[in-house]
Amino acid sequence: NKVVLAYSGGLDTSVIVRWLQDTYGCEVVTFTADIGQGEEVEPAREKARALGVKEIYIDDLREEFVRDYVYPMFRANTVYEGEYLLGTSIARPLIARRLIEIANETGADAISHGATGKGNDQVRFELGAYALKPGVQVIAPWREWDLTSRESLMAYCETHSIPVDFSSAKKKSPYSMDANLLHISYEGGILEDPWAEAEEDMWRWSVSPEAAPDQAEEITLTYVNGDITAINGEPMTPAQVLERLNSLGGAHGIGRADLVENRYVGMKSRGCYETPGGTIMLKAHRAIESLTLDREAAHMKDELMPRYANLIYNGYWWSPERKMLQAAIDDTQTYVNGEVRIKLYKGNVIVAGRRSEDSLFDESVATFEDDAGAYDQKDAEGFIKLNALRLRIAAGKGRDNR
Ligand code: ARG
Ligand code: SIN
Repeated sequence: NKVVLAYSGGLDTSVIVRWLQDTYGCEVVTFTADIGQGEEVEPAREKARALGVKEIYIDDLREEFVRDYVYPMFRANTVYEGEYLLGTSIARPLIARRLIEIANETGADAISHGATGKGNDQVRFELGAYALKPGVQVIAPWREWDLTSRESLMAYCETHSIPVDFSSAKKKSPYSMDANLLHISYEGGILEDPWAEAEEDMWRWSVSPEAAPDQAEEITLTYVNGDITAINGEPMTPAQVLERLNSLGGAHGIGRADLVENRYVGMKSRGCYETPGGTIMLKAHRAIESLTLDREAAHMKDELMPRYANLIYNGYWWSPERKMLQAAIDDTQTYVNGEVRIKLYKGNVIVAGRRSEDSLFDESVATFEDDAGAYDQKDAEGFIKLNALRLRIAAGKGRDNR
């Protein structure tokens, strides 16, 4: 039997390779993806080889990640609990899908991952895996072994002669981090005290708003069917767009969040997130929708959004209800075309203008000047009176109105 492991090349998942080989006597296939975490993925090949792995998969999934996961999610203006832009959550269904594809290609009957038994990620990986391969076996070492600290992991390496670079393992960041093209997350360490402020040198992608330039930077984003296709008129692929917005936003102190969230397993957890490009995308998308979406369609989207966010946060990307919502959301984006002009300034994303060939904004109707008969103000009288009818009946019958 064979198991496909989501392998980062780091200390934890290197220990998992050897542990799987020893504990289950199975052949391990490693899968390492570049989803824009900003670290080289090629070194994972040598490390896996040194651990005796014969089938090594290394994929560049950056375009696919943004095109098929991040962009669809941003069409819904998705935010979890009012704050979290779901940077980690949205990458998990892609990893799950690749794990299962590789299992099918290599004839493996199991998958494995390095997520702990306390978090959301285990749920997301495994719900995805079961949805795509119902009979798959899942091995989650963190729920089974007794290696509970960095020290015990390093000791395991020494007794099992696992070649790790101990100097880099020791000076590893004090936070539990997860990075991809959409965000970096930081949890653990001093952040476990919700009152303690994150240290300035924790943040990797953005300057602080205080240190950002005193000069605003203006950019123009082009939308086609709800997706950004160009920045300042220059056509770009989805991954290129997000990469560019990350560097623009980061330079202006945009996209830092510090929050306490409710994990699906039931606990509260404190996390800090850097999502510069996503923060710009959210604001700009709402601006182009404000011009192009029908009122009731827009309001219904806003009502459905928290449910859609919960589905993604809780790991139900590969569910019928997520696909159903996605179809509805995507349908609304037909006319979400045009341009948004944005100013980036000291942590703020300021909309300066928007325009669209598909705009529903009718100047002749909306104007405060003479509208030449486009809108008959007398119509408003009956509109208001009929809407007031039930209020007047109730008041007429002496209903208390305090
Ligand atoms: N709390 C966030 C979420 O549930 C981030 C999780 C970060 N994961 C990690 N393996 N460090 O989406
Ligand atoms: C983990 O527990 O592996 C990371 C945190 C999370 O999944 O929520």
